[in-house]
Amino acid sequence: MTALKPILNHIDTIPPNTGKFKPVKPSVYFIHHRLRFHTSSPKCALWWIIFLSLIIMLFFLSQPSTTAHLHTTMLSSKSTLIRLSATPRSTQGHIVLVTGAVGFVGAHASVALKRRGDGVVGLDNYNPYYDVGLKTSRKTQLLDRAGVFVVKGDINDDVLLRELFDLVRFTHVLHLAAQAGVRYAMIDPSSYIKSNIDGFVNVLEAAKNAVVPPAIVWASSSSVYGLNSKVPFSEQDRTDHPVSLYAATKKAGEAIAHAYNHIHGLSITGLRFFTVYGPWGRPDMAYFFFTKDILNRKQISIFEGENHGTIARDFTYIDDVVKGCLSAIDTAKKSTGNGRNGRKKKGEAQFRIINLGNTSPVSVHKLVRLLEKLLKVKAKKKMVLMPRNGDVPFTHADISLARMELGYKPRVDLETGLRKFVKWYLDYYDVKKKSSW
Ligand SMILES: NC(=O)c1ccc[n+]([C@@H]2O[C@H](COP(=O)([O-])OP(=O)(O)OC[C@H]3O[C@@H](n4cnc5c(N)ncnc54)[C@H](O)[C@@H]3O)[C@@H](O)[C@H]2O)c1
Repeated sequence: MTALKPILNHIDTIPPNTGKFKPVKPSVYFIHHRLRFHTSSPKCALWWIIFLSLIIMLFFLSQPSTTAHLHTTMLSSKSTLIRLSATPRSTQGHIVLVTGAVGFVGAHASVALKRRGDGVVGLDNYNPYYDVGLKTSRKTQLLDRAGVFVVKGDINDDVLLRELFDLVRFTHVLHLAAQAGVRYAMIDPSSYIKSNIDGFVNVLEAAKNAVVPPAIVWASSSSVYGLNSKVPFSEQDRTDHPVSLYAATKKAGEAIAHAYNHIHGLSITGLRFFTVYGPWGRPDMAYFFFTKDILNRKQISIFEGENHGTIARDFTYIDDVVKGCLSAIDTAKKSTGNGRNGRKKKGEAQFRIINLGNTSPVSVHKLVRLLEKLLKVKAKKKMVLMPRNGDVPFTHADISLARMELGYKPRVDLETGLRKFVKWYLDYYDVKKKSSW
């Protein structure tokens, strides 16, 4: 009661309500006096200035920039489709952002993830490095049918990425978008820097700043082994002598990934793919353009090393690589970074680099013989000394780490895989109707 006394005393001073509400107007003098009272203290003046500056800042922050506005419009009109595509079939399913989704590996991986019940959203800029029609066909014939929505956009667009990560809480990013191919660096070197370095950093930034940072699985390349002569190529081998700009950007990517893992606690798995081939493949790769040229009775150039040395590749069938990607996602541990909520990571995050190859290299001569057999056409061959523009003489993957970490076991030999590729090629390009072979 003693504690209540001052309050009750105050209530006592309130005049009794006479029944008619009569607002008490403060006199001008009173307002003036109060203002003078407040502003006269330098401490209060400072508070007023801070308050007004905050209002002005909030006003400007609430005005969206033109690009942000464009993306808001773009993503918000598609947000229902994006969310639907991102929804896994069960609560156990992953929610995966696949960059490079209309690319060769991206399209296959997205479909496989979606089919097994994961939520998937694709992102791709449909760049014209090779036939955009093929990318569009992958979208309409593979991704649309599987129910994978693809956002058309560039990984360098940080506003778009931020919005995408705000819209969907991705558990994983399968980062496959890149400027692929070694020879194109002679024509457009900066495209490798833009997509493979700048773009990769942008993806890592977006992931690290997500409310809950996802785990990253991304495509490095066997090209990082450069002129390694120790076979098979093991993850323990040196990779600091790249012989192409492409390889150099992938090697840089591995170093950048390590830094993001160390500083920001992003869980990152880099997969070194070895010459992936199969249906819906890339037209810039030898098995693909050899098929086209052999069918068109055009001469093909077969590279050979010094002193007629054989060129060989560890050709890896697309389904095996996709299985490796899915296993990498399933075995990826959570990122330990606190995302947007804080700067400090909760502990060391997982960091892996793993070969995904077939561990059985095949010479280019054998590749051509198999294609001749499957296409039933004799190739017109010309032997050419391999130019020094980025290609390496041979690749051969040691896959013991993949076997241990991912339970990876490639199953498709080159002849079986090429048969599937040739079947697809003839069907896709409608070769039987167009030619008389
Ligand atoms: N196919 C192989 O043999 C092989 C071997 C080693 C490594 N890799 C790597 O695997 C990944 C997938 O290769 P792929 O064979 O499917 O190549 P791909 O060219 O078919 O697919 C890459 C996709 O990324 C997209 N892309 C490129 N830059 C982009 C950007 N800035 N923003 C958004 N999208 C962009 C392209 O439009 C393309 O659809 C790449 O990182 C590649 O370097 C492939």
